Amino acid sequence: MASTAPWWRYAVIYQVYVRSFADANGDGIGDLAGVRDRLPYLRDLGVDAVWLTPFYRSPMIDGGYDVADYRDVDPMFGTLADLDALVSDVHAMGLRIIIDLVPNHSSSAHPWFVEALTSPPGSPARDRYVFRPGRGTGGELPPNDWGSVFGGPAWTRAGDGEWYLHLFDPAQPDLNWANPQVYAEFESILRFWLDRGVDGFRVDVAHGLVKAEGLPDLGNVSRDLLRSVATPYFDQEGVHEIYRAWRKILDEYPGDRMAVAEAWVGSPVRVARYVRPDELHQAFNFEYLLAPLEAGAMRKIIDESLAAAAEVGAPTTWVLGNHDTVRPVTRYGDGPAGLARARAAALLTLALPGSMYVYQGEELGLPEVLDLPDEARQDPTWERSGRTVRGRDGARVPLPWSGDRPPYGFSPDATATWLPQPVDWAERTVAAQAGAPASTLELYRHALRLRREHPALREGSLRWLEPPSADVLVFARDPGLVCAVNLGAEPVTLPEYGDLLCASTEVTGRVLPPDTAAWWSR
Ligand code: GLC
Ligand code: CA
Repeated sequence: MASTAPWWRYAVIYQVYVRSFADANGDGIGDLAGVRDRLPYLRDLGVDAVWLTPFYRSPMIDGGYDVADYRDVDPMFGTLADLDALVSDVHAMGLRIIIDLVPNHSSSAHPWFVEALTSPPGSPARDRYVFRPGRGTGGELPPNDWGSVFGGPAWTRAGDGEWYLHLFDPAQPDLNWANPQVYAEFESILRFWLDRGVDGFRVDVAHGLVKAEGLPDLGNVSRDLLRSVATPYFDQEGVHEIYRAWRKILDEYPGDRMAVAEAWVGSPVRVARYVRPDELHQAFNFEYLLAPLEAGAMRKIIDESLAAAAEVGAPTTWVLGNHDTVRPVTRYGDGPAGLARARAAALLTLALPGSMYVYQGEELGLPEVLDLPDEARQDPTWERSGRTVRGRDGARVPLPWSGDRPPYGFSPDATATWLPQPVDWAERTVAAQAGAPASTLELYRHALRLRREHPALREGSLRWLEPPSADVLVFARDPGLVCAVNLGAEPVTLPEYGDLLCASTEVTGRVLPPDTAAWWSR
């Protein structure tokens, strides 16, 4: 059934964390040529699009979210020519590609910031960032009480005594979006990449660009920054004006270009404001990711998400993990039970209306790596927290492709990868799972194929059905599809829903075992 809806409304978008996807040149670090080599894998998996995490020139203090040149590829990842070749291969396969855009802050190695540091207080070069005099008699105290997401204060003192703002690492100074040069520069950067053919952008820290007038103290508001609601530095009204301007630019280009907001703003209603008709196209549904995998909590967040999105006419998105969060298998309990629950969650999520983001390795059922040696840790959170918060490296371990020991085909044999891989991943490699009917990889392949083929899994709306117990979710997507998920401890017997299409564990007859999701169709 041909549909005129833009591709992203129902797309399954696969997040490639470039550094950890595939290493073509043997330095132990993933690169663009590695992504290119493995595109057939993504096509055969059945996703619609790829999102690449930052590959720009960067000192890599925060995994490339510290950008020194927004218009060039870091030599670690390849060249602009590699990127162009990748974009054209992606398109030749009928897939789309979106790239990460990091507008809240640059790297401290960006020429603008280097210039700002060598320019006097009050100079135009400093005005592109957020410099302020300190408090205290000699200005020895930070200008306000804001903390960095990675720990410690959000301010660092420059050589001449002024302080600059960094909501993240000191190597990531916040840009001043009240400065017209910043505005113009990012419009030009958008055009640079749109002209090269990318299909869209994932907007990093989309909720952070505008800070409250006067930079008021935070006071007693929760410091859980990723979930904060009203703070003077997140989710300020002014950010929406920026996205309205960007939307106009995206709309000038042919072929349904889009942008997805990374906005940790605390409720589906606040999130929906980023996807009003004249703003961005999608926003990650982090409330869904954070919800406990219990029937009541999941049903509530699904309903709230659908309602908030419908209010503004946008599609919902669903996300179970990314490079910043603990992998679902581990979040849901680790071990075989965690894996079973992650598989059930995947099947539930793929049956929901809208678009889904899959983080690389979810399709392999990879767990978080909890026992990385401390000396291998790279996430700035580790040092900034005084080595108390281990950070996000455990979700960023290089993918296992084949073979029975590290580097599992990620790099040529015997290469040490940039983060070490566990020695017990032989059964989790792509090669080990491909063709094995009970594997997580085959579950994803099967479900993604059904999602493309079954008409209910596109436009069909969601209708809750009476569950056999409070621990079970059952819903229909019309025409003819039913998804049931048993999140309780006991098997349940279901009514007759038609033919079994797909299940996250063995399902016989009408009995749905615990930690299992299944789809039926008539
Ligand atoms: C986003 C990214 C994260 C990064 C941060 C600062 O949350 O996903 O990885 O550390 O922004 O750019
Ligand atoms: Ca490499």
